[in-house]
Amino acid sequence: MVNYQRDLIRRFISYDKVVVQKIKFCKVEELPAGKSIDKKILARKIAVYNDNGKISAMESECKHMKAPLNMAEAIEGVVTCNWHDWKYDLKSGKCLTHENMDLKKFEIEISDGWIYIIFDF
Ligand code: FES
Repeated sequence: MVNYQRDLIRRFISYDKVVVQKIKFCKVEELPAGKSIDKKILARKIAVYNDNGKISAMESECKHMKAPLNMAEAIEGVVTCNWHDWKYDLKSGKCLTHENMDLKKFEIEISDGWIYIIFDF
């Protein structure tokens, strides 16, 4: 079991009611500019992007045909799906090419060289 999953389980056990949870995603140094990393956490596929130093996280499956968006390029705040060019705004998760096809955006926190994903339940 990966460390962040172990940490998560401990946190769930130790709280009666979890409202907000932050989960260790990856080290900042693992994510150089222009790169992305995706992982499955709590049954959600999430990609974290480094768009020229700006770190953002959102769901990593395209709403069109579930193409993996971690393979897509993030340029100037926009992720473009490699399969059919649907575009998503990294700041909001909003689909810029089709209505009502937005992706869930996740807040992140950077602390002690780690990128954390903030889940609100
Ligand atoms: S699968 Fe992403 S645009 Fe078609």
